[in-house]
Amino acid sequence: MKRIRRSFVAIGVFMWLMSCGNTSVNESAVEWKSYSGDPAIERKVDSVLSLMTLEEKIGQLNQYSGNFAVTGEVANTRSGEYLKKGMIGSTFNVFGADHVRMLQEQNLKYSRLKIPMLFAADVIHGLETTFPIPLAEACSWDLQLMEKSARIAAEEATASGVAWNFAPMVDISRDPRWGRIMEGAGEDVYLGSLIARARVRGFQGIDSYKDFSKPNTMMACAKHFVGYGAAQAGRDYHTVDISNRSLHETYLPPFKAAVDEGVASFMTAFNELDGVPCTGNKYIFQDILRHQWNFNGMVVTDYTAIQEMVAHGFAKDLKQASKLAMDAGIDMDMISEGFVTYLKELVEEGQVSEKQIDVAVARILEMKFLLGLFDDPYKYCDAEREKEVLMNPQHLQAAREVAQRSIVLLKYDPNVLPLRKEVPKRVALIGPFVKERESLNGEWAIKGDRSKSVTLWEGLQDKYNNTPVKFNYAKGTSLPVIDGATRQVSTAQGFDRSGFAEAVRIARSSDLILVAMGENFNWSGEAASRTDITLPGNQRELLKELKKTGKPIVLILFNGRPLDLSWEAENVDAIVEAWYPGIMAGHAVADVLSGDYNPSARLVVTFPRNVGQIPIFYNMKNTGRPFDENHPADYRSSYIDSPNSPLFPFGFGLSYTTFKYENVKICDTKLRRGETLTVSVDVKNIGNRDGEEVVQLYMRDKVGSVTRPVKELKGFKKIFLKKGETQTVQFTINEELLKMYNIDMEWVAEPGEFDVWVAKNSADESNHLEFELVD
Ligand code: NOJ
Repeated sequence: MKRIRRSFVAIGVFMWLMSCGNTSVNESAVEWKSYSGDPAIERKVDSVLSLMTLEEKIGQLNQYSGNFAVTGEVANTRSGEYLKKGMIGSTFNVFGADHVRMLQEQNLKYSRLKIPMLFAADVIHGLETTFPIPLAEACSWDLQLMEKSARIAAEEATASGVAWNFAPMVDISRDPRWGRIMEGAGEDVYLGSLIARARVRGFQGIDSYKDFSKPNTMMACAKHFVGYGAAQAGRDYHTVDISNRSLHETYLPPFKAAVDEGVASFMTAFNELDGVPCTGNKYIFQDILRHQWNFNGMVVTDYTAIQEMVAHGFAKDLKQASKLAMDAGIDMDMISEGFVTYLKELVEEGQVSEKQIDVAVARILEMKFLLGLFDDPYKYCDAEREKEVLMNPQHLQAAREVAQRSIVLLKYDPNVLPLRKEVPKRVALIGPFVKERESLNGEWAIKGDRSKSVTLWEGLQDKYNNTPVKFNYAKGTSLPVIDGATRQVSTAQGFDRSGFAEAVRIARSSDLILVAMGENFNWSGEAASRTDITLPGNQRELLKELKKTGKPIVLILFNGRPLDLSWEAENVDAIVEAWYPGIMAGHAVADVLSGDYNPSARLVVTFPRNVGQIPIFYNMKNTGRPFDENHPADYRSSYIDSPNSPLFPFGFGLSYTTFKYENVKICDTKLRRGETLTVSVDVKNIGNRDGEEVVQLYMRDKVGSVTRPVKELKGFKKIFLKKGETQTVQFTINEELLKMYNIDMEWVAEPGEFDVWVAKNSADESNHLEFELVD
């Protein structure tokens, strides 16, 4: 491979003096501390910076999407124009070793100081080997598996030109109306923080802290800072109004976890927070991220987020918005062209100091040095490696395994599932998802070739080939689609009952009905919020017709959010929540249906009974008038038309085997500070097949200086047990685990009594213990 070596160290070192000792927000905003803490890198950054003109510096802060050159010809666009001035620091969502190499060549041709461009992309759940959507994958509760899938995504992306991933999204969300709930790790802070760390580790792939020297390492990006998942009424981009306490207790911790794991970059959120759009928010970027957490990596805005501060009513024009973003400490402007258009003017007018710009440029240059791009701007453009890694058999096998482990069995009757290969059966295969291919990758599969995903039909044919299980297919109905122009559900498709009769006829002549239904892939993801979270179109109506045949029904769901399955849960015999399983979809679902893989996933987000219950999540507060469903009473916190409880709680999921918990005990009833307690349980597989169980530990702080949730996840262990096998699972409780923000927002463990549950899910209270934290 052609290697171009450049070292700017020899050019001369400029002593870039930094202000220090001043703690006020504005002053410290203009202080550069390196992310790596490596003096050699710092010197290199200083030396390049010292040679740059103001325009060149501003260019580094400018980021575009897509191609600025095609087959070497510079496009006649704004990005093409800025390229020729050497004023693009980064480009995103362009792929391919050869293609990115060509774009880099163009950049180097025009960049006076030969500053390499940084290529980024949204590699959310795999590049070409598409894994299940992140929400699904989180349901595996398997951190190593999530790290592995992120690593594979990075292996492919880094061979395909990409050095910076706009992932993971670590936004906590408790609102299934919000389409982007599919991109996160669910509703829980504890689990979400561990998953954030696993994904950062997997994407970045660094062996030792901040060492990006290997060609398969990349920068990860914790997004969207912060509160995006709390959009009012679940409407994407909507206002967020959360208390400072919820910000600290719920929304910030996964970001802090990402910082602790060494994440190299952050992305701003579109929403406002306490009246201030995040992209201009000094409190979150300066006070919290930079000062409290000491984060010294890069911050990029979300798409046009600087420009959007005008519509927010926070800036009168793009120029003012650019100043506000600069003052908040934002380093790179994605798409708005605010920095590239106005920063020079703002400096000349004295509204922005050149030092502020230097800091942002230094952060960007440091990343380019760390990634090795100055030494080899084509480090990530290895066409041979690209050929070897993209969708190689090991990656596809991993995608199948992750998909198996992401599928949640919500309901089943042993008479219908697993569908045994040796028992003769006539099976009706009905529904719009039986042969659906395009949607299986979900909305965010940016480079996943939708024509390559394995359909359910193909997976079942493969699995039951040469068996006495025979399938008969009818689509029954279609998936409704969204009208591109109006962004509303189109009535053109998905409401026609003409296929019902054929589906019912086939169902009648079968022993079992497998129904595959769900949401078209672009019904979740960005800008895809819903007010009705039942199965779209007339799919439930079709189910009702099938129900009349009296044949057992297994419902297999493909969707990107928790759905309202209240009718389905009562009326079908089994529900398999497959989410969007990715490229190996059909095989993975067939593995689960057949029992070749015994399902082990557990929900990471609550399934409500109806939209009226939203937001609903397991770790709610008790209120002063809690409602007891076993002893209903008036004037209590309840609904008159719905239970309070969810349809399927957080942590819930079934297996084809049964696990029994015995000998649940705690070693002491008092915990002294600095000491530990051990909670233990014997978990026994009393069913007829091997399987995996997720043993969950919940706690409640009974009385606090502020009220505490009715329970909080504090630990879990995923274990494999052969049939008949027993394993003792232990959890350690220490003071750290009991910490909370007290009334003065100090992070402390308050003395007092705690409940403990060793549980199969968040609603399981059968194994209860207690202890007291004493001073
Ligand atoms: C907007 C999305 O909110 C963000 O997550 C993504 O990284 C950017 N677009 C770039 O595609």
